[in-house]
Amino acid sequence: MRAKFITVEGLDGAGKTTHLAWLRQALEARGIAVCATREPGGTPLGETLRALILDPRQSLAPETEALLMFASRQQHLHAVIRPALASGTWVLCDRFTDASFAYQAGGSGVAWEKIESLEKWVQGGLEPDLTLYFDVDPGTAKARVDAIKSPDRFEQERQGFHERVRAAYLRRAREHPARIRVIAGNAAIHEIQVQLEGIVSSLCSSS
Ligand code: TYD
Repeated sequence: MRAKFITVEGLDGAGKTTHLAWLRQALEARGIAVCATREPGGTPLGETLRALILDPRQSLAPETEALLMFASRQQHLHAVIRPALASGTWVLCDRFTDASFAYQAGGSGVAWEKIESLEKWVQGGLEPDLTLYFDVDPGTAKARVDAIKSPDRFEQERQGFHERVRAAYLRRAREHPARIRVIAGNAAIHEIQVQLEGIVSSLCSSS
């Protein structure tokens, strides 16, 4: 079976962290080697960029932010993602390019076409095999984030920003229906896990 590239997306507070951990163990339980990684980040350069990008003291122009995300992504693809896939290791990535459409284009107003051209430049033909988008309304997401941590720069944005981020994720899901699975993130965890189990089984039985 060819190694698969899986990405996980959602608003901050959508439950990605819990579901990523579950997915990782579900794949490993099937004997699959998994590289769990994240964006921005995933390499020493990427993690340095991440700290700068998420620092609430920074004020970045939206285009600067988009370019830094793709600089991190380019290095990540070069040093981690492509080599892992080539060696037969599956890649499970916490956020990827759909987040740049959602946050930089949808949230911050960078032209959609600019993100599309960066996507083509940086990824070439490489696309995730599967993207799981956990959809929750921004009010629920914010309440969850507020309960557990001090907010990073994106989490401090107003509700309107997160509404636009969600709308952009849903637009991407409509544009890529075969790749992006929308999962209702406010369902009970065990119900979501039943869905994930089905998705993992069918992915593992495809070539
Ligand atoms: P996240 O991965 O949710 O980490 P944590 O759960 O530790 O808060 O945070 C990363 C933030 O980066 C998130 O708010 C979305 C943002 N982001 C973008 O704006 N564009 C991107 O392309 C990516 C990958 C992330």
